[in-house]
Amino acid sequence: FKVPDIANEPMRAYGPGSPERKGLQEAIAQMEKELPFEVPCIVNGKPVKTGKLAKQPIPSDHAKHLCTYHEADQATVAAAIDGALAAKAEWEAMPWSDRAAIFLKAADLVSGKYRYKLMAATIFGQGKNAWQAEIDAAAELTDFLRFGVRYVEELYSIQPPKNTAGSWNRLEYRALEGFVFAVSPFNFTAIGGNLVATPALVGNTVVWKPSPAATYSNYIVYKIFEEAGVPPGVIQFVPGSPVEVCAQVLAHPNFAALHFTGSTFVFKKLWKDVAANIDTYRSYPRLVGETGGKNFHLVHRSAEVKNAVMQSVRGAFEYQGQKCSALSRLYISESLWNNGFKEQLLNEVAKLKVGPTQEWTSFIGPVIGRPAYDKITSYIQKAKEAGGEVLIGGSGDDSKGYFVQPTVILTKDPKSVTIVEEIFGPVLTVFVYDDDDWEKTLELIDTTSPYSLTGSIFATERKALLQATNKLRNAAGNVYYNEKCTGAVVGQQPFGGARASGTNDKAGSMAIFYRFVSARSIKENF
Ligand code: ALA
Repeated sequence: FKVPDIANEPMRAYGPGSPERKGLQEAIAQMEKELPFEVPCIVNGKPVKTGKLAKQPIPSDHAKHLCTYHEADQATVAAAIDGALAAKAEWEAMPWSDRAAIFLKAADLVSGKYRYKLMAATIFGQGKNAWQAEIDAAAELTDFLRFGVRYVEELYSIQPPKNTAGSWNRLEYRALEGFVFAVSPFNFTAIGGNLVATPALVGNTVVWKPSPAATYSNYIVYKIFEEAGVPPGVIQFVPGSPVEVCAQVLAHPNFAALHFTGSTFVFKKLWKDVAANIDTYRSYPRLVGETGGKNFHLVHRSAEVKNAVMQSVRGAFEYQGQKCSALSRLYISESLWNNGFKEQLLNEVAKLKVGPTQEWTSFIGPVIGRPAYDKITSYIQKAKEAGGEVLIGGSGDDSKGYFVQPTVILTKDPKSVTIVEEIFGPVLTVFVYDDDDWEKTLELIDTTSPYSLTGSIFATERKALLQATNKLRNAAGNVYYNEKCTGAVVGQQPFGGARASGTNDKAGSMAIFYRFVSARSIKENF
C-alpha cells in the first residue's frame, strides 16, 4: 500500500464570531465547569490508582488545579515495563498498514473530535493562548502523526541498491529489542504525543512518563491513542516523580532507548544514569534527546527593520518564551538600533497584553510554575546587578498566577549572564554591535553559549546571509533567513540542534525513525 499524499493540518484563525472560536470557547467553559479531573496511571490498558496523589496546578490561577493524578509507584512502573515487554511481539508483528491506520486515525481524532478539548487542556494546564494551543495541540500533533506514517513508509522502502545474479538482498527494519522510555516536557502537548508515537510506529512498545505540568493534556493524548486502536500495553502511561521513575526504568536490563525532550541538565543526568547501568543492559541503548537553547537573532545593517522587529517580538515572547526554540539573545547593528529599531521594538512589546490565556485578549500567559517564576525573575535581578538596563518589563506578579512582564534587557557585556544562560521565559537580551564589527559579532554568537538549537539572520544583502551561515555552521540546527527562530513545521523544517541542545536527530523527519529500529540484513540465494 501507499500512504496518500500528506498535507499540513490547516491552521484555524479563531477570529471573533467564528465557529472555531465558539467551539473552543465551549470546550474551555465545559472544562472549567468540570475541573479538577482525576488521572490514573494506565498499565496494560487499565487505570491504576496508586493513591500516591499529586496535583497539576493551573498556572494562571495557582489556587486551583486542573487535575489530581496518581503517581506511579515502584510496583506500577515494574508492571508497566513487564506489560510493555509482553505486548511487544504482537505489536511488532502487526502488519505495517494496520499500525499506520491506527496512527492515521489518531491524527483524525486530534484534528477533529478532540481538537478543542485537547487545546482547552493545553490552555488551562500549560498556559498557552488559543493560537499557541492551535499550533501545538491541534496542528503540530496532527502533523507529527500523519507525516510520521509517511516517513516510516519511506524508511521501510530503503533497500540495498544491488543484488548479484541469483540472489536477493533485503533489509528488515526490526523494532528495538526491549522497550522504549519516553520522557516528555510541559511546553508542547504535541511533543508528548510524538515522543511516544515515533517509536511505536516502527513496532516498539513505550513506557511514557509525561511532565507533571502537562499531565492532563498528555492523558487525553493517551486516551486518543487508545480510541484509535493502540492495543493495551503498547503505550504505558506512568506519570510520577521524575527522579524515582527514571531511576527505576533506566536500571532495567531491557531498556532499549530513551526518547527525551526537556532540560539539558536532566538529559545529561539520565545519560550518566545510563552509563552507570551499561553492564546491565542487553543492548547499547539509543539516547535521543532534544534539550535547551540560547537562540539568537542576528540583524545585519541591511535588514528590513519592521520585519526584524515583528519577528523578534514573536520569537521571544510567544508562549512566554517557553519554547526550546525561543529567541533570547538579539544582536543588532548599531545604525538600525538607533534609527527606529529600538523604538519600534519597545512600542510593540508595550502592546503585549499579559493575562490568563482562557481570555482571548491575552498574548502573554503565565509561566509554567513557581520554580520557573522564581528562576526567571531572579535572572532579571542578576542582569540588573551586572549592569544590564531593563528597557521594558522587568517585573512579575505571582499573587494569583505566575505572570512575568515581557522584558527587554540591554547589555554592553557580550558575555553577560542573560546572554549566556538559558532562562526559558519572556526575557530578551539585546546586544548592540558596531556595524564595522560584523565579523567579530559572528564569532561572538558562535562562542557565547554552549547551545546550538535555532538562530535567525536578518539581512537583505545575500552576501551577509552567506557569511553568517558559513561562520555559524555549528551554532544552530535550525536556521531561518528573515524570519523568527521558532515555529518549525513538521514535514517542512526537520527540527533539532547539537552541542548542548541535543542529539540532533531531527524531529519531524525520517531521520529520527532510524534511531528506533535495528535493521537486519538478509541475503537469500535462489
Ligand atoms: N519545534 C518548535 C519550534 O520550532 C519547538 O518552535
